[in-house]
Amino acid sequence: MSSTPTPHRWLRWPEDRATPRLGFGADYNPEQWPREVWAEDVRLMRAAGVNIVSVAIFSWARLQPTADTWDFAWLDEIMDLLHANGIAVDLATATASPPPWLTTAHPEILPVTANGETLWPGARQHWRPTSPVFREHALRLVRTMAERYADHPALTAWHVSNELGCHNVYDFSDDAADAFRDWLRERYSTLDELNHAWGTAFWSQRYSAWDQILPPRLAASHPNPTQQLDFKRFSSDALKSYLRAERDVLRELTPDVPVTTNFMVMGETKGMDYVDWADEIDFVSNDHYVLPGVQAHDELSFSANLTGHIAGGLPWFLMEHSTSAVNWQPINVAKKPGDLVRDSLTHVAHGADAVCFFQWRQSRAGAEKYHSGMVPHAGEDSEVHRTVRELGATLGALAEIAGSEQVPARAAILFDWESWWTSELDSHPNNSLRYRQEALDWYSAFLAAGVRADVVPARSDFSGYDVVVAPVLHVVPGALAERLQAFVEAGGHLVTTYFSGIVDQNDHIHLGGYPGAFSDLLGIRVEEFAPLLEGETVLLDDGNEGSLWSEPITVTDASVEVLAWYKTGEQGGRPAITRRPVGSGSATYVSTRLGTGLEPLVRSLLDDAHLPGDLPATVRGKVELAVRGTAEHEFWFLINRTAEQVDVDGVTGDVLVGRRSGGAPDATVVLAPRGVAVLRRPKA
Ligand code: GAL
Repeated sequence: MSSTPTPHRWLRWPEDRATPRLGFGADYNPEQWPREVWAEDVRLMRAAGVNIVSVAIFSWARLQPTADTWDFAWLDEIMDLLHANGIAVDLATATASPPPWLTTAHPEILPVTANGETLWPGARQHWRPTSPVFREHALRLVRTMAERYADHPALTAWHVSNELGCHNVYDFSDDAADAFRDWLRERYSTLDELNHAWGTAFWSQRYSAWDQILPPRLAASHPNPTQQLDFKRFSSDALKSYLRAERDVLRELTPDVPVTTNFMVMGETKGMDYVDWADEIDFVSNDHYVLPGVQAHDELSFSANLTGHIAGGLPWFLMEHSTSAVNWQPINVAKKPGDLVRDSLTHVAHGADAVCFFQWRQSRAGAEKYHSGMVPHAGEDSEVHRTVRELGATLGALAEIAGSEQVPARAAILFDWESWWTSELDSHPNNSLRYRQEALDWYSAFLAAGVRADVVPARSDFSGYDVVVAPVLHVVPGALAERLQAFVEAGGHLVTTYFSGIVDQNDHIHLGGYPGAFSDLLGIRVEEFAPLLEGETVLLDDGNEGSLWSEPITVTDASVEVLAWYKTGEQGGRPAITRRPVGSGSATYVSTRLGTGLEPLVRSLLDDAHLPGDLPATVRGKVELAVRGTAEHEFWFLINRTAEQVDVDGVTGDVLVGRRSGGAPDATVVLAPRGVAVLRRPKA
């Protein structure tokens, strides 16, 4: 993380800046439509309560038809039209996808895969993050845009590029090789340091000159793991450097306009270390698309929660999600009734102060024509568009929450990009391990137990929590081990799992037995991992079933309690889950993958830590609670996780969204299937 965080600066609304409001809108791509549609667009936007749109994201070829010609007339007209209708513009720098004239003249900007294949134009984002030629052309466009629109009253924020790294995070070209070497020189100073960090004594990999070093291109066998890890760090940094280059031009020309770029904190998108990027922009934005599966809504909540903590608990911008189906999954299913509003409000519950969609009007042509929009192919007279209007009204009713911050929970789940990258490298004991899924499973268990948990970067200050879960915290440099030790000694309850504490920042093993950095704290020692085969499971004596992993644990500290024993399999009769009391705190270890079986364990941990949850036991697991707050108020979001009506008794507060069954201040809050209620309560 950079040492001097950028202060948070929110949207510069065009007029009446004091009026609190939540942003509501979409990516707006008027260049895909004839001019006569534009007036219809703004009429519908106004009717739906849209107050902000992102414009020009993929407009480079239209704005600069050749190297030396420009066409801004249409964008001038759109900016004026939107402003005249009270709609603010989050203006893209338009650099996301280079135009054909540029790639024809300069094919050396095209990315190259690990196999040496060129990624040709024809789709989008076909540019090398490290290409000096691309950067020169892109920054010229950024400068031209900033000069032209600096004083336009609709300009409310800058949107750098689009989803940096969505398709081009890993480029193995010669440009990347040069930049990788520079990055390595900066990190290690000397080749001796690099050779040590990469463990090049192994397999005759010792480097004697910098120009021998390459990105981890397709190799005869497993590429050097630290080379792979450093290439991941470098690739994230290369895009961050590009982000800064655009941002610096914008700051120079329009210092009062906040700058953002849309992250992709969702699913398995792991190439960009957003915790490290967040300080580079004025406010965090995120794109989120629901992934099908039983944990679909939990994953949404998890991503929103993590985004909010990447944003430091301050408001952030949901730049994209979908009104209904997307086009890029193998089968693209429409959202069910209730999902559109619940998905949106779940993001708001976790700190989003703007709710936008991809995209305003569903495309008629192109690769995304089957992707839903706020105005679908069916037009204004459609269920999707009616629901969009309903959402606009709901967000209007929530205007007073704008600017409120997230109220910290008492439990946290640590999330760490370095551990994500490293634990999933190849040539490991079990290559089926999925880091993010582990963290998500713990989050689901907290949701099922009805207790709030924050998803926080491992680099953040977690010392104020009562319970910290660190699933598969694989990379543990000394300072992190010390912080966790201090947390426990101060009375905190730490839970960690298999494959945690194993390596340092160079991916070198902490010697002396596993789990390395945590052995003493946990009071256990493991000599060998015992991964389980695909489909193989083991029973625990508490009735749970483990998969993926097991370990022969030796208890080394007399105070350690065994919470569960292996009953079957090679480890039968040995400890599976252990807990070492440390003063009023504790250190718990889970040596197998429990998946959906985590809930009872979470409940007992919460009992030990005296964290009963804030909602009545009758709705435990059925309702997610998320809390935002100001100096005077708390805003409680009650989110129905089920497809049935849920009645929540005994919760007081003024209802901003939703309904009670009667007039009494604590009358039952009735949550429709997949429904959400929002209550305003005095600050606790
Ligand atoms: C995002 C992208 C949008 C659109 C959307 C479709 O990745 O930023 O331009 O492609 O996905 O879901």
